[in-house]
Amino acid sequence: MNNATEESTIIEIPPILKGKKVLISGVANKRSIAWGIAQAMHQAGAEIIFSYQNERLKGEVEKTLAGTIENATLVELDVSNDDSLDAAFETVATEFGGQLDVMLHCLAFAPRETLQGGYVDTLRDHYSIAQDISSYSLAAMARKARPLMQKAGGGSIISLSYLGAEKVIKNYNMMGIAKAALEAGVRYLAADLGLDNIRVNAISAGPVKTLAGRGISDFTTMLKHHAETAPLKRNVSLEEIGGTATFLASSMSNGITGEVLHVDSGYSIMG
Ligand SMILES: NC(=O)c1ccc[n+]([C@@H]2O[C@H](COP(=O)([O-])OP(=O)(O)OC[C@H]3O[C@@H](n4cnc5c(N)ncnc54)[C@H](O)[C@@H]3O)[C@@H](O)[C@H]2O)c1
Repeated sequence: MNNATEESTIIEIPPILKGKKVLISGVANKRSIAWGIAQAMHQAGAEIIFSYQNERLKGEVEKTLAGTIENATLVELDVSNDDSLDAAFETVATEFGGQLDVMLHCLAFAPRETLQGGYVDTLRDHYSIAQDISSYSLAAMARKARPLMQKAGGGSIISLSYLGAEKVIKNYNMMGIAKAALEAGVRYLAADLGLDNIRVNAISAGPVKTLAGRGISDFTTMLKHHAETAPLKRNVSLEEIGGTATFLASSMSNGITGEVLHVDSGYSIMG
């Protein structure tokens, strides 16, 4: 908390998710935002199923969980594939007795070429891939989660976004367009699912050095600039993002839906 890039650590998390059934997507390794959220939700008493993108990543997820969250169910889910979505949610339904309280959409992808240079050069195929995986997947997963959350009497869906949805951020390019669609999707899904008492929100997180983050050209400069400019004069920690996600998953946030909450040391307020 003292120098410009140091992150703060927290946080006493109360057992506000005790007995809640949670699906968390997007753990790739210990640096993943999804892993920060998983640890916080685990501390809060949640029962968690983890989804992993493909067989190649499964081992890394198992390694990440080892020693912290033992015996969790793992399920393969590639959001670009409808069969994979069907199979994954069937497993979730079976494992969780047909119910689901919380779903974490913590994934995104854009071809590397789109994260450098200018948006003007984005190819049609690259645009489609980025939108499909980073934005459409939230609707696809929400549609699958809906009956399980209806059975649970309601639910909370949380996605991850970034300031590049609202403002032009150097090199973020295509991902900014996809995140803008994602944030609009959060609002439309919140309107669709509100009658079922299903809330849909996003956290707009400050930059974190993850696998996905490092795909953005000049990411280290971005981190440094963020820490120097933000009111709190530092970057955010995985624990802080995890704490906010836990709040959004819990009944403490029951009046909030369709919202994009910035967890960014205040960076987004600066002119
Ligand atoms: N790192 C940052 O600075 C930052 C800031 C704000 C928001 N975010 C967002 O946070 C989320 C998590 O990213 P992260 O930074 O923790 O990186 P990460 O690399 O740890 O996680 C990205 C995850 O996306 C998954 N994924 C990609 N394509 C997929 C597919 N087809 N099917 C299923 N899963 C797929 C990967 O397997 C991986 O687990 C993303 O939505 C990202 O845009 C990141």
